[in-house]
Amino acid sequence: MLTKTRILQIDPLAPDAVHTSQAAQIIQAGGLVAFPTETVYGLGANALDADAIHRIFEAKQRPTTDPIIAHISNVEALTQLTDTPASDIGTLIEAFWPGPLTLVLPRREKVPANLSAHMPTVAVRMPAHPVAAALIDAAGVPIAAPSANLFSRPSATTAQHVLADLDGRVDIILDAGPTLIGVESTVLDLTASVPTILRPGGTSVEALREYLPDVVLLQKWHSEKQAGQSPGMMTKHYSPQAQVIMLKGSREAILKALHARLTDSNAEQSVGILLSDADLTALAPPKHVFKVSLGLSAQTAATRLFAALRQMDEAGVDVILTRLPAYSSPLNAALQDRLMRAAEGQVIEVR
Ligand code: TXA
Ligand code: MG
Repeated sequence: MLTKTRILQIDPLAPDAVHTSQAAQIIQAGGLVAFPTETVYGLGANALDADAIHRIFEAKQRPTTDPIIAHISNVEALTQLTDTPASDIGTLIEAFWPGPLTLVLPRREKVPANLSAHMPTVAVRMPAHPVAAALIDAAGVPIAAPSANLFSRPSATTAQHVLADLDGRVDIILDAGPTLIGVESTVLDLTASVPTILRPGGTSVEALREYLPDVVLLQKWHSEKQAGQSPGMMTKHYSPQAQVIMLKGSREAILKALHARLTDSNAEQSVGILLSDADLTALAPPKHVFKVSLGLSAQTAATRLFAALRQMDEAGVDVILTRLPAYSSPLNAALQDRLMRAAEGQVIEVR
């Protein structure tokens, strides 16, 4: 089953057609190509080939009950995936595509059922990354792609993350450097009775609300039982090996509790802390503590989050203590969602 994984360096803004056509041939032959999108790296296969799709599930060790997004590079390709006319969703497409918005629509009968975990819907997005667009164009088919990480590991935002998880399990990795946004696309279900955000992400709830005033956001991390519509949305997701604990309460109380924990000489577990720049400065943790800053802004935090979780694992940290940074940003819903999932819902209220 193992293959030799090749890494091709590719210019993120002006992708070399030799590389994209080489990768496209792999897709056409039913193989797997990891490629950058503006959100995270994807693990791609021909979305119209059930066997190729099955290879994605195998390579990621992902349960086949977790549906996969199909990526397109032009609006015309929508007709290959759904019978919903593009004009029905024209304003959304114009406003948000290409970009980090995935639309859940009724699935066209010809689309392999395993793409959608046998649900009658299909998730579609048009990524805003020149390499992704060039690859899809060259392949001439929609490309099925989940994030390019092993199941339940943090998503991959660099080619090195992809290699760490999928070496020998993917034919080609197109390496265009770190991704821009760092968290995945927003998944919007248009087949529900009201437009429903199944996963907050790179497109903000506020921006969507301008076009869909009745849009609702499902907050799934507090209950695995709600995971029915989108089985992949269960709480255990994006988890590092270390246990993640999210602290809630006033900033002062949290910093005080953290200080006490970090200076407790009896504590046996090694602790890592993941905080905003402002919080880290205020805390001034002892030197030996492994720390990663989420930066000054929500944008920076989004680009650093998954890499930070991986760094913590490499450092052998047992417990990661974190707090939702107090950024005021439309990206906060996505950050909170990913941190809560990494924490598997574990929150400690500090007073
Ligand atoms: O930004 C992204 O969306 C990245 C890049 C590679 O495009 N992809 C990504 O894929 O994050 P994945 O498989 O890691 O997450 C896709 C999410 C899952 O939570 C899945 O359950 C949901 O989208 N999803 C896919 N198809 C669906 C469908 N037909 N109905 C409901 N949810 C669906
Ligand atoms: Mg994923």
